[in-house]
Amino acid sequence: MLDTQHNSDLLMQCKAVTANEPDLIANLANISAILYDGLTDVNWVGFYFARQADELVLGPFQGKVACVRIPFGKGVCGVAAANQQLQHVDNVHEFSGHIACDAASNSEVVAPIMVAGKVVAVLDIDSPSVARFTAADAEQIAAVASYCEQLDWAQL
Ligand code: SME
Repeated sequence: MLDTQHNSDLLMQCKAVTANEPDLIANLANISAILYDGLTDVNWVGFYFARQADELVLGPFQGKVACVRIPFGKGVCGVAAANQQLQHVDNVHEFSGHIACDAASNSEVVAPIMVAGKVVAVLDIDSPSVARFTAADAEQIAAVASYCEQLDWAQL
């Protein structure tokens, strides 16, 4: 749906806005805003933190009020965290254990953010459209998550 050029512009914006700012939460808040504003047809963009083993907790986001805690292995976010693998789901209603925070969500990409071999957070992007995200979109979302790995996670 979105061309690769546009998506790489979003990554460049994320880099530009965060490059000279050391604060982790401020940077993640701005990255969620850049993605939410810059992507069409998305209704939620945000981070869940793996502050403790086996549980995600809500971080900076844009969109409606969301579930605060997600166990590893539950829902799309929890599976991404447990498996340490990107999840690209065309229809969340067909995903076993999907957690419906916003009933409007139909497709979703979740990219793990890894530091020193451990998941520190996941980046979650939801759309009200079924199959909103192309493979190229998912790759670019993974590229933003990969950039996020360079932020200062010692602050978490
Ligand atoms: N749908 C997600 C839960 C998080 S919200 O969409 C913000 C999931 O199944 O992990």
